[in-house]
Amino acid sequence: MTISPSPKYLHEIEHSGLAQTAGHWSEKDYVEELASEHSKMFYMPAPTEGFVLYRFVAGDIEIMNLAVRQKGRGHGKVLLDAFLALPLLGASSPKIFLEVAASNVAARKLYGRAGFVETGLRRAYYRSGEDAVTCLLEVSHESV
Ligand SMILES: CC(C)(COP(=O)(O)OP(=O)(O)OC[C@H]1O[C@@H](n2cnc3c(N)ncnc32)[C@H](O)[C@@H]1OP(=O)(O)O)[C@@H](O)C(=O)NCCC(=O)NCCS
Repeated sequence: MTISPSPKYLHEIEHSGLAQTAGHWSEKDYVEELASEHSKMFYMPAPTEGFVLYRFVAGDIEIMNLAVRQKGRGHGKVLLDAFLALPLLGASSPKIFLEVAASNVAARKLYGRAGFVETGLRRAYYRSGEDAVTCLLEVSHESV
């Protein structure tokens, strides 16, 4: 597993089927996001094969996108647990924010199991018109 501040893993994401799994993001979206010095990609190779795209926002972290190539096999849990165990997250006590589509049951369960709390609803947040649920995890040193 690796942390990269650059679009180094775009090739893997685009050509392994990961981008298709992750859905609504285009290659341009990844390139633009990773062009920011605040953005990072946490990539886990097979057998987990997944990524967490996140950015630092005023000392906290926002997860922008997260996906595994093969869904429903527990890989999401392995990926998220590994991400939350990163030492850089334990350096202070950051908050981790994200939004998830209201209908994305697997993701909402995944985040709930990891300790994320659902804090609100953003109506018609996505281009599709779907609502987003906002989630928050307050990372403590005991939990990393
Ligand atoms: C969201 C995602 C990362 C979850 O990873 P996963 O490997 O499929 O999920 P897991 O197998 O670890 O399961 C996580 C939980 O969801 C449940 N689950 C998995 N697939 C499910 C489904 N289709 N419907 C309902 N629940 C489901 C599991 O039972 C598990 O719950 P549990 O802890 O209560 O047993 C993955 O499905 C994915 O890549 N989806 C596409 C991208 C995406 O939607 N990302 C979220 C962006 S916010």
